[in-house]
Amino acid sequence: MLRTHHCGQLTKGDLGKRVTLAGWVRFYRDHGGVLFYDIADSHGSTQAVFDPEATTSGDLDRLEGVLNSIGREYVVAVTGTVRDRVEGTTDPRNPTGEIEVLIEDAEVLNRSKPIPFEVAEQKNSMLPGEDLRMRYRYLDLRRKEMNANLRFRSRLISSARRFLESEGFMEVETPMLTRSSREGARDFLVPSRTMPGHFYALPQSPQLYKQMLMVGGVERYFQIARCFRDEDSRADRQPEFTQLDLEMSFVDMDDILSMVERMYAFVWKELFNEPLPIPFPRIELKDALSKYGTDAPDVRFGLEMEEVTDLVRAAPYEIFQKVLSKGGMVTCINLKASMLREQDADGAVGRKQVDRLIEWAKGQGMGGLTWMRMTPEGLSSNIVKYFPVEVRKAIAARTAAEPGDLLLFLAGPREGTLKAGGQLRLKLARDLGLLEGKGHQFVWVVSCPLFQRDPATGGLTSFHHPFVRPVGDVIPEGKECATAMGRSYDLVLDGSEIGSGSLRNHDPAMQRRVFSILGMDEATMQREFDFFLEALEYGAPPHGGIGMGIDRLCAMLLGCESIRDVIAFPKNKKFQSLVDGAPTKVEEAKLSELQLLSLAEDDDGA
Ligand code: AMO
Repeated sequence: MLRTHHCGQLTKGDLGKRVTLAGWVRFYRDHGGVLFYDIADSHGSTQAVFDPEATTSGDLDRLEGVLNSIGREYVVAVTGTVRDRVEGTTDPRNPTGEIEVLIEDAEVLNRSKPIPFEVAEQKNSMLPGEDLRMRYRYLDLRRKEMNANLRFRSRLISSARRFLESEGFMEVETPMLTRSSREGARDFLVPSRTMPGHFYALPQSPQLYKQMLMVGGVERYFQIARCFRDEDSRADRQPEFTQLDLEMSFVDMDDILSMVERMYAFVWKELFNEPLPIPFPRIELKDALSKYGTDAPDVRFGLEMEEVTDLVRAAPYEIFQKVLSKGGMVTCINLKASMLREQDADGAVGRKQVDRLIEWAKGQGMGGLTWMRMTPEGLSSNIVKYFPVEVRKAIAARTAAEPGDLLLFLAGPREGTLKAGGQLRLKLARDLGLLEGKGHQFVWVVSCPLFQRDPATGGLTSFHHPFVRPVGDVIPEGKECATAMGRSYDLVLDGSEIGSGSLRNHDPAMQRRVFSILGMDEATMQREFDFFLEALEYGAPPHGGIGMGIDRLCAMLLGCESIRDVIAFPKNKKFQSLVDGAPTKVEEAKLSELQLLSLAEDDDGA
């Protein structure tokens, strides 16, 4: 070893020891001939000092020469004796902050070019642009925060793996060069050299392979699975990401949900040394949409929406009546007096703030926002005269309004109104600091339909994917098939979907039926799924599972704004890997070996 200790290790207990540290020189400074170096490695940093008065070295001139040649981020090894820091110069934020190493020998292990941005700890606002960080990702990874993110991710995966192994799961790697399938996104294709004109697809998920593993008698499978999807980039999406993917045979839905819950409870204990309350609450999709305006609700703070469409029909308030006449809806959020900050509670949220909310609602594409305040005498506002007393009472009862509460109404077409209401909840929670001190909350979203209508084509598409088993193992005949429900579930953490799964169709006839409802004729089924349908014909056991986005999960738990911060080498918005410049053009020779040039020419000729 080039070192006796790492840079986060030495304390007062080591005083007087002769040690060797190796690491990067994060800072150095010269205090009147006394030289200070912060030597950092992935464990921490330690102050090393060269003091010409105190240093005893065999060859002081050589040592001074070496030390004077050192620059920022040079890799060095220093040997010396651990000593107390001078009083008043200790650093209580650093675990090694009470000691320093008096340098007796030093060696430059490698030099560094001048760094393009600061690697030392600093406020997020001081970070350089993300493209620069990605271009020099290896330097970005040296930053304490990024190093901690990767370590957290590694510990989380290790912990989940140990739990699943203890439950008898087998880790199996499924192929990366696969057959193009219909999982919703565009495929990344890889040309075949041996079969010109043919392509592999990188897997969007191991879905069909894990199901074939169940046919193969694996019974309990898991994988830390790399998935590839050519879909639009967002803060919580990458074209290449990782799922914790699992599948189980001879189980029903509760068995799978309970296994996942116990896994998280185990991981929680190991990572945070805290119990995680299980089971997780379950919420039906329709309630998630009507109360939270999203299929991935954040249930940590109240502010649920309550629909009042039926109640306001009897109120001759023009704005609502106009909306109702067009088949729209009215929903209400009760901003509880207790949620308002002290300065707001007196007279509740002030007029100005309500005005700002109205402007915000307009920005969301809503006509605006109507409000009423609850008083000991009942609801009051400048429009309350349009609401008969019984209607006011009914609204107050449905929204559980108490004196001081502020009721906010959104009216408009159903989908847009619920969505805006969902956004309003989140905005209020942020503005009023309702999430401060709140922990994390998992929730299952269940009771989802099997199909949904594609607004563009009017045809049916899968709500999740085509392999979901219908509730009751029946799909109604004819047009009614659109009402079938699926045995699927999404796992949501703090308002972000981090997993999705279902029981699967193990009966090949049911699988064919789903394919045909999705508009596949026999020839398409044969062309795309012959192998899979055939596998189901050989005694597929009842099975189901789930795929969970590890990047999203880690980003949520670490409070990162983007999943890129928990991925060692992420892609940018244009899907470029800036550190190595991928994707790149390739030489013609390579293209012609793959016969891609002749394919293009064939196309041109056609
Ligand atoms: P699904 O497509 O819902 O299900 O994906 C499961 C989880 O993977 C994560 N995820 C992503 N994370 C980062 N970037 C992306 N582009 C991305 N896309 C998805 C999400 C999501 O909840 N085969 C099924 C699972 C199953 O049924 O077992 C599947 O892949 O957290």
